[in-house]
Amino acid sequence: MEKTIIRFGVIGCGLMGKEFASAAARWCHLSDVNFEPRITAVCDASPAASEWFRLQVPSVAKSYTDYRDLLADPDVDAVYCAVPHHLHADMYIDIVRAGKHLLGEKPFGIDQAANDRILEEMAKHPDVLVRCSSEFPFYPGAYRIGQWVREGRFGKLIEVEAGFWHSSDLDPHKPINWKRRVATNGEYGCMGDLGMHVLHLPLRFGWEPNSVRALLQKTVEERPDGKGGTVPCETWDNAILACDVMQADQKFPMVLSMKRIAPGHANTWFIRINGTELSAEYSTKNPKQLLSMPYTPGGEQAWHTLDVPYQSAYSTITGGIFEFGFSDSILQMWAAFCDELTNRSDMRQPLHCATPEEAALSHRLFTAAIHSERTGQTVSLGRGDTLEVSSRGAGA
Ligand SMILES: NC(=O)c1ccc[n+]([C@@H]2O[C@H](COP(=O)([O-])OP(=O)(O)OC[C@H]3O[C@@H](n4cnc5c(N)ncnc54)[C@H](O)[C@@H]3O)[C@@H](O)[C@H]2O)c1
Repeated sequence: MEKTIIRFGVIGCGLMGKEFASAAARWCHLSDVNFEPRITAVCDASPAASEWFRLQVPSVAKSYTDYRDLLADPDVDAVYCAVPHHLHADMYIDIVRAGKHLLGEKPFGIDQAANDRILEEMAKHPDVLVRCSSEFPFYPGAYRIGQWVREGRFGKLIEVEAGFWHSSDLDPHKPINWKRRVATNGEYGCMGDLGMHVLHLPLRFGWEPNSVRALLQKTVEERPDGKGGTVPCETWDNAILACDVMQADQKFPMVLSMKRIAPGHANTWFIRINGTELSAEYSTKNPKQLLSMPYTPGGEQAWHTLDVPYQSAYSTITGGIFEFGFSDSILQMWAAFCDELTNRSDMRQPLHCATPEEAALSHRLFTAAIHSERTGQTVSLGRGDTLEVSSRGAGA
C-alpha cells in the first residue's frame, strides 16, 4: 500500500520522546495503514538526551539544542513535543505559528492562562492539526467500552468512576524531580500530570463536570535533593474529585482520582461505568480483563469476565490471543494521530486523539479543584461561565 510519509521533529528527547521513537521504529507492526511517521530531526536542551536518537534512530538527520532551529527546518512537517509543563505554552505556540502539526503532551500548558494562550494561537491556524497525547483509551478493553458508549448500551447512567494511580512516591527516599516542583510541573500537581488521562474518555463521551468538590492531599512534604540534603516536595500527591454531570436527560455522579501515592499501584488506569442496562469496568491492572454486566429488568445480575483479544483501533500483525501493553497503546495513539493528519475526516476508525478543547476542559476542572480545596466548597463550573463558588459560599 502507498504510504504518506510524515516527517517528524521531536522536541524533548526524554522518557516520552523515546517512546515515540520506539513506536515509529516498529511501524511494520501495523498491518493496514496508509501513513508512516519518520523522525527527521530532534531537539533537546541536553545534548546527551539527543545522542540516544543519533545512535538509535537512523532517520534522524539533524539534532538541535534550540527548538526554534528545529521549527525552521523545512524537512519537518509535524512535531511531537514532550517537555516539562512550564515550557508547553511558549513551545506549542511557536510550533503552531511555524505551521507544523503538533501532538503535544498533557497537560497542554502549566495552568489555565498558559492553556488559554495555546488555544488562542491555534484559532489563528485552523489548518494545523493539534492533538494532546493520551494513550490509555487505545487498550482493547477501554476501546470496547468506547464502542458500547457510542452504541448507547448503558441505559441511564447511575455513576462513573475513573482514575490513574501510581505508587513510587510512597518511598520518601525517592529524589525530587521536575514533576514534584510547582515551577516546572504546575500548581495542579498530580492533576496536571495524570488528569488528562483520567478525563479523556469521560470528556469524549460528553460527560463534562458541572461542579466539583476536590480533596487534594500532600503526604510526603520533603524529598532528597540528590546532593545530600532535602527540599520541599511542593506538589499535590493525590486528588479525589467528586463531580456531578448534568445532561439533558440525566444527572449522575462521577468520581475522578489521580494518585501519586496509591500503595501497590504502578500505572493503574481504570474506568467503571454503571448503567441501568449495562455496567462495565476496565483497568490496566489486569490489562486483558474486561468486566461487564448486562441487565434487563427482573433478570439476573451476573458479571461477565472476558479476556479481550489483542484488537485495538488499528489492526496489527499480532494474533488476537496475545497480550496488549503500554507500548502498544502508544503505537495505536500514534497511528490515530497520523491517520487524522493523512486522512482527516476519513479516519479509518472513530477514536481520534484527545483534542486541545478537551485539554482546555481539563484545565477548567483542575483550576476549579484547586479553588474547591482552598475554600472547602463545591465549585460550579457553570458550563461556559466563569468559575464561581456554590451558593453555600465561602471566601477565596
Ligand atoms: N503520555 C504519557 O503517558 C506520559 C508519560 C510521562 C510523561 N508525559 C508528559 O510528557 C512530557 C515530558 O515528560 P517526560 O516524562 O518525557 O520528561 P523527561 O524529563 O523524561 O523529558 C523531558 C525532556 O525535555 C528536555 N528539555 C527540557 N528543557 C528543554 C528545552 N528548553 N528545550 C528542549 N528540550 C528540553 C529535557 O532535557 C528532557 O530530556 C510532560 O508533559 C509529561 O506530562 C506523558
